[in-house]
Amino acid sequence: MFMLKVGVLASGSGTNLQAIIDACNEGKINAEVAAVISDNRNAFALERAREHGIESFFSDASDKRRHEEEIDRIFGERDVGLIVGAGYMRILSPQFVKKWYGRIINIHPALLPSFKGTDGQGDALKYGVKITGCTTHFIDEETDHGPIILQAAVRVKDGDDRDSLAARILKVEHQILPRSIDLFEQGRLEIHGRKVRILPGDSWMEYALPDVLYSEGF
Ligand code: GRF
Repeated sequence: MFMLKVGVLASGSGTNLQAIIDACNEGKINAEVAAVISDNRNAFALERAREHGIESFFSDASDKRRHEEEIDRIFGERDVGLIVGAGYMRILSPQFVKKWYGRIINIHPALLPSFKGTDGQGDALKYGVKITGCTTHFIDEETDHGPIILQAAVRVKDGDDRDSLAARILKVEHQILPRSIDLFEQGRLEIHGRKVRILPGDSWMEYALPDVLYSEGF
């Protein structure tokens, strides 16, 4: 039976990668992670891949063109149907995005378009917002800008510091990223300009965490 092959890009600890692997292994998503590529040779995400028998590659991103050629080759050779940025901290070139547009998604730990960039959690906290959250979106040629797939809103609590807030958001990232892959695999994501239409079907609301607001389609 056809199974979607997912190529994961990660730069850090890989808890989002772990959530994807777990969701695949639990049969929540009809997909498998075909390969993990990191721009950080010490990324624990690479160790997580190895622990699960998933091919893992370090790709030096200091030469962006070579880095992207490696990503394209490694994922292309493995018939990857969807690339997922899971805590991947690099900006992909417009050429690369053009080639993969519609088949490459990302997770951002804030409610885009607010708090783009590399510290969405800290920026939101410093700004004094009362509600923040996380976003999955298709990657387009601008940073943290592509059509939004899912969002979930999380309260900022009194006494939160960056780490406590980031940890609360991370739990929800681990839900909406696998769910976004699931919706893609089911063919239920339609991009209409800036809008993503999610076709009707099953729901993951049975997994909803208390006090979190999920967008339509979760
Ligand atoms: C996550 O909040 C992710 O959104 C951000 O880095 C954090 C850690 O991600 N980019 P992971 O544990 O490496 O998946």
